Amino acid sequence: MADPIPATAAPLDAASARKVYVETYGCQMNVADTEVVTAILTRAGYGCVGTPEEADVILINTCAVREKAEERVIGRAAQLSGLRAHKPDLTIGILGCMAQHLAASLPKRAPFVDLVMGPDSYQRLPDILAQTSNEALLDVRLSRVENYVGIDGVRKSGTNAWVTIIRGCDKFCTFCIVPYVRGRERSLDPSEMLRQVTQSASEGFKEVTLLGQTVNSYRFLQTDFADLLRAVAAVDGIERVRFTSPYPKDFTDRAIEAIADLPEVCPALHLPVQSGSETQLERMQRGYSVTEYRDLVARLRTAVPDLSLSTDIIVGFCGESDQDFRRTLELMEEMRFDSAYMFKYSERSGTAAHRKLADDVPEELKRERLREIIDLQEQISLEVNQQWLGKSVQILVEGNSKRKTEEGSPNRFGRSAHGKVVVFPEQAEANSMRSVLVDRATSHTLYGSAADA
Ligand code: SAH
Ligand code: F3S
Repeated sequence: MADPIPATAAPLDAASARKVYVETYGCQMNVADTEVVTAILTRAGYGCVGTPEEADVILINTCAVREKAEERVIGRAAQLSGLRAHKPDLTIGILGCMAQHLAASLPKRAPFVDLVMGPDSYQRLPDILAQTSNEALLDVRLSRVENYVGIDGVRKSGTNAWVTIIRGCDKFCTFCIVPYVRGRERSLDPSEMLRQVTQSASEGFKEVTLLGQTVNSYRFLQTDFADLLRAVAAVDGIERVRFTSPYPKDFTDRAIEAIADLPEVCPALHLPVQSGSETQLERMQRGYSVTEYRDLVARLRTAVPDLSLSTDIIVGFCGESDQDFRRTLELMEEMRFDSAYMFKYSERSGTAAHRKLADDVPEELKRERLREIIDLQEQISLEVNQQWLGKSVQILVEGNSKRKTEEGSPNRFGRSAHGKVVVFPEQAEANSMRSVLVDRATSHTLYGSAADA
């Protein structure tokens, strides 16, 4: 699990307002959910603060995809409960996928937690927080309809507006906990989606990222994902449209055409493949073969020749032989992904793999395989990034980079349309567009100088 994603601070209406701090782990959907939680609580009169020490209520929005993430969150909640020494009334809550997954056992495993709430229950947060009880309060009902309509996430910082267009997942890949903790797939009404995008554009956001576990499976009556892309791209003020993650099996020709046609849609796709072995894809029940994935990438690259492509890969899934693993390495060499999120398989209770397949790849071998694919991907990413040397890229400036210039002054950074992080030494306003000439490339970052304003 990565470091927690920084909290978004909203202004305090009144000095007396109860103050809430939300810490976020996991995927972009969780970041977007935290923005929704912040909006709901702000509306209910809470003030949002940027550190746990200032808070009366601490909420941890969690991920359940891998076991390690869960262990760390429990450790973190225990550590935060230490703040009760100075603030006995401090409320600590666990939200999101892990709350849903471990609902019944959490109060025992983490007795310092007052509140456990799943991803469909956030509208009830103000009511639940108002209750006083000595028992931990649990609300993990999943909904078939909850889409948080009418709630604009509190997006006080950043340059990108997340808009969740589809919640839940119906794919039930055998390794994955998400369908159990996020419930059934449901698409947001397109008029509400447009309202949210228009609202963020009016707040000055130039970039929108449409979110969903299988974002391109979107359908609301007659409106499909391709229609949605066209509608978002047409919103005044929106210069960049991204989406994540599309599901390989659900890519239509209409969606590919829309991506190719619309200059606002960024030529950068995250297309999780998981494995390069046909047998493993079948065991995972992904619903596509390696050949179909390869054909899809060919169609995408024909439509968008300079497409940048990233992926997710799992090593050590049940039954993965050395040969299966080699197939993954071969596919990576063939596809030449720009980047990849790579994971060791982590068995999750309740999934089909947990019920029916043996988690039989030894931990040590999982670790070795992970090391090997990371090394290969680093090499490929470096070579792909070096192709940008000497080229000028348009970036949307995000802010100061952690890395300073040699003289010690702050570098700025932003992202290119292809999704590359670009660092450059000149002053530039956050949320402005800048042309940068790339003169150095590592496997994760491009460096350059500002070519013009
Ligand atoms: N909806 C996304 C995936 C969501 S989970 C999709 O397009 O498929 C994000 C990633 O976590 C997955 O793509 C997968 O690579 C990884 N993942 C999911 N379950 C996992 C598990 N049990 N062990 C290890 N990695 C897992
Ligand atoms: Fe998980 Fe597969 Fe859905 S990876 S989120 S079950 S598409």
